[in-house]
Amino acid sequence: MPTLTVEGVGQYEVPEGKRLVLALKQEAGTDQLHACGGQARCTTCRVEFVAGEPTRMTVAEREVLAAKGATGVRLSCQIECDHDMSVRVISRLAGSGRKDAGHEPAAAITPPPVWVEKS
Ligand code: FES
Repeated sequence: MPTLTVEGVGQYEVPEGKRLVLALKQEAGTDQLHACGGQARCTTCRVEFVAGEPTRMTVAEREVLAAKGATGVRLSCQIECDHDMSVRVISRLAGSGRKDAGHEPAAAITPPPVWVEKS
């Protein structure tokens, strides 16, 4: 099982292929935001990678990051835990002013992923 390290929080064994956004909530117990429910629309699930950033990304992630001009971040709803990775949680419910973290993301990446290499 891959190891997920969350800076300042801890290290966790995560089931192979689990969505990172769900691992951040369920294994690491963080209050990671996911306002659109993991649909690659809101970017509130963004994280910063410390190590192990995936080299591939979904087309949906690439397009929404480009549309919002977001750099240096990745969308945890569009990433599978298929290797060891270390991230920084930067978009949390605490301090956000939102009433909840968002709809629960499905177990599988949505929309159905089309993978490309990160440019
Ligand atoms: S883009 Fe909305 S939860 Fe990932």
